[in-house]
Amino acid sequence: MFARLVAIMTAAKSSRPLNSQMTARYNCRVAGTGSYLPERELTNFDLEKMVETSDQWITERTGIRSRRVAADNQVTTDLALNAAKNALEMAQMTARDLDAIIFATVSPDQLMPNSACVLQKKLGARDIMSLDISAACSGFIYGLSIANDMIAAGSYKNVLVIGAEILTRYMNYKDRDTCILFGDAGGAVVATRADDGESSRIYSHHLHADGTISDLFVFKMGGSAYPFSHENLDKGYHYMNMKGREIFKHAIRTMSQSCAEALEHNKMSGADVDWIIPHQANIRIIDGVAKHFGIPTSKVIIEIERMGNTSAATIPVSLDRAVRDGRIHRGQNILLTAFGAGITSGSLLMRF
Ligand code: ACO
Repeated sequence: MFARLVAIMTAAKSSRPLNSQMTARYNCRVAGTGSYLPERELTNFDLEKMVETSDQWITERTGIRSRRVAADNQVTTDLALNAAKNALEMAQMTARDLDAIIFATVSPDQLMPNSACVLQKKLGARDIMSLDISAACSGFIYGLSIANDMIAAGSYKNVLVIGAEILTRYMNYKDRDTCILFGDAGGAVVATRADDGESSRIYSHHLHADGTISDLFVFKMGGSAYPFSHENLDKGYHYMNMKGREIFKHAIRTMSQSCAEALEHNKMSGADVDWIIPHQANIRIIDGVAKHFGIPTSKVIIEIERMGNTSAATIPVSLDRAVRDGRIHRGQNILLTAFGAGITSGSLLMRF
């Protein structure tokens, strides 16, 4: 009790968030991963025909060569459904085993009902808590952190965490600053209560948001501030709008800081980490974070080249691809880190 009080006072004093592990009854581990990329590919050469750009510029400045685009009849929960099925299979569970669904997205099927409820129905899951969260590219780390805390507290056992997006539906293909970056994808993990003595577990998570710079990346249309109207449509508020150069600077700083925070919290150094999975926004941002830590790029999972920035989906998709092709295996320490519109950011360190 005293230790807890001291922890609360210390956290309040330093205005740093209390870490969930202080009150954990159980450990949480990732039991299964899954991902899905739509079939249609949009290459840089395709974009050359749509907007004033070049394959050379995009490749050199972003590391992206192509991205996937959902079929006209696909919605975000369809991408999530495929990813979720793969994750459940790896976890050796069925949808009926789930106790909650957390769905991170900024491109839901519709404003209401939430995508988690739609996915619950598509999966055939039980009547379980189904919640959407909106934290843009940090959404998956936010979601897995929430799942960890729900499991650690003992209230839930098996939680499906989704990061899925169809961002291409909100791209202005005349805005070369933005449209070259984004693609569509779905990723999923099944988070579950770890058995006693099991070494796989989430060590800690560290979430942040700086709302004072929230205007750096906006999607205005459809909310109460900018309801659907011809006027707002004419202003282009139905497109995502980004101050890329500004975001770039914050991205390297915030991801590096939250990684340092995770390592410090767990008394680890970069040498203790087997893999870093950073949000896949720009190869130069990824390289910048690795350089900051003196971590060789051979220890960084990089999937951006053929999928672009898929917001909340980049981390679960990259994790799944690395697990399935054998780069990541059980017992390794994995550091996830992201930043996104908000400006949200965070890190999560786990033993897979
Ligand atoms: N093709 C050719 N030229 C271009 C293009 C393009 N697609 N886009 C911009 N340019 C030009 C600019 O007009 C500029 O020309 P100028 O010098 O004549 O003015 C020049 O290239 C340099 O522009 P910069 O903006 O300085 O280019 P930069 O190297 O910063 O790259 C980019 C731009 C790729 C957007 C980069 O800033 C970036 O990746 N930022 C981070 C964006 C991001 O991660 N957003 C997602 C946030 S996460 C989330 O929540 C989804």
